[in-house]
Amino acid sequence: MSGREPQVGDMDPEAFRRWGREVVDWIAGYMATREHLPVLSRSRPGDLRSQLPGSPPEEGEDPAVWLEDFQELILPGVTHWNHPGFLAYFAISGSGPGVLGEMLAAALNVNGMLWRTSPAATELEEHVVGWLAQLLGLPGSLFGVIQDTASSSSFAALAAARHQAFPQVRAQGLTACAPGRVYASTEAHSSIEKAVIALGLGQAGLTRIPTDADFRMRPDALERAMAEDVARGIRPVAVVATLGTTSTTSLDPLAELLPIARRHGVWVHVDAAYGGAAAALPELRHHFKGWDEADSIVVNPHKWLFTPVDCSVLFTRRRELLRESLSLVPEYLRSNEEDETTQLMDYGLPLGRRFRALKLWFVLRHFGARGIRERLAYHLELGQRFAALVDDEPQWVRVAPVPFSTVVFRWAPDGVDRDLSALDEANRRIMDAVNARGQVFLSHTSLGERTCLRMSVGNLETRWRHLETGWAQLVEEAERVRREWTGGAQPPESQDPRKSPIP
Ligand SMILES: Cc1ncc(COP(=O)(O)O)c(C=O)c1O
Repeated sequence: MSGREPQVGDMDPEAFRRWGREVVDWIAGYMATREHLPVLSRSRPGDLRSQLPGSPPEEGEDPAVWLEDFQELILPGVTHWNHPGFLAYFAISGSGPGVLGEMLAAALNVNGMLWRTSPAATELEEHVVGWLAQLLGLPGSLFGVIQDTASSSSFAALAAARHQAFPQVRAQGLTACAPGRVYASTEAHSSIEKAVIALGLGQAGLTRIPTDADFRMRPDALERAMAEDVARGIRPVAVVATLGTTSTTSLDPLAELLPIARRHGVWVHVDAAYGGAAAALPELRHHFKGWDEADSIVVNPHKWLFTPVDCSVLFTRRRELLRESLSLVPEYLRSNEEDETTQLMDYGLPLGRRFRALKLWFVLRHFGARGIRERLAYHLELGQRFAALVDDEPQWVRVAPVPFSTVVFRWAPDGVDRDLSALDEANRRIMDAVNARGQVFLSHTSLGERTCLRMSVGNLETRWRHLETGWAQLVEEAERVRREWTGGAQPPESQDPRKSPIP
């Protein structure tokens, strides 16, 4: 025996106060200077792990040591999503009020699975999703629940859709059911396919409906696919319409899809994970026509509503079906007030749930509805200005409309004798070269089998100068490739050949 007292208890509150101040100071400094960090991490595979000890420390270490390691070891391996030059995927913001909400939620560490396990967590969530519905022009009668991600929200929505189509599935599984089908466009997000797989319908259970020239689901093709399936004894389960697709932010023509889905009596789920935020702007509400009639809608405040990851809101008009499909209440989770209160564990796969409503509440209160609208409008303006830059440059082509703040484009120069796959490769090279410079980070997608580049505005600190920098670098890197290919010849005068879709 060493004679030493065994250690018990948490970090000393005074030590927490001291280090907490250091951390908050660090965060404030990071927010002020993040622009000067390379947005895309320059880490090589294995860099971090090769610097970490193989085992945890036997004796606890001083916060000064692990916080220094955070800066020295972790930071170089971070791709800065909260950087104004982050223009890849869908750009997002972990805003100041959102970060404060995360800190307090972590300190309280509540698990809001039941009303009684933290009444404020449940009631604030119910209230704040109602605020969000109002902000987006959705009916106050919708039931809303916060999930971690759109993937979980869509999974829960499609579980309810499956329950509606096959009420026996809960007890007996799919063996007792006809084959079921979910319909979504070829541009729908992979999370829909994952949900269909997880719900046991198999990849064959998802029919990908072709899109028109603007990447919107074709109603005629949906109609035909559903009719053919019904004739073959297949049971339609759900139609998923995307309002703001991942590649181009195209919007499926929901108002035309709804009557088709209704004729077959199937659930309509709207994936507005990214685009839904834009409904805060009354001038963009026309894009969302019909969504208030959908059975469920997912909108991610952690995408374009300035709330730190993770926060996804699932709205539904069919609360009872959602609950029936996923609720399971063992005795130890029963409570006296369960009939008069909401038990949020009933509306998704996980039992435990973080107090996510707090950060969303702080974000909505800090910026206010007007502040949110003005920030979104500014992002739209940046998107349009960037689109105009692309349109004015003869060697580049914009490949999709720009309803929001994401521009999809491609280098497609005249006068170079190269095939389309060489151009695909060149676009990747140009993007990689720009990303390696560190000031902006762009991503790519594939449309009509062609590689296209994407520029998405969504970070609160992004300004026009970041887009100008990105564009200047793209043009420079493209010119480098062109000179390499042509031995330095000047580009030909444009015949304005760029307006055709995806050359
Ligand atoms: C349209 C759409 N739906 C769903 C998702 C998945 O989002 P999450 O990461 O929240 O699951 C994305 C991600 O970008 C998306 O663009």
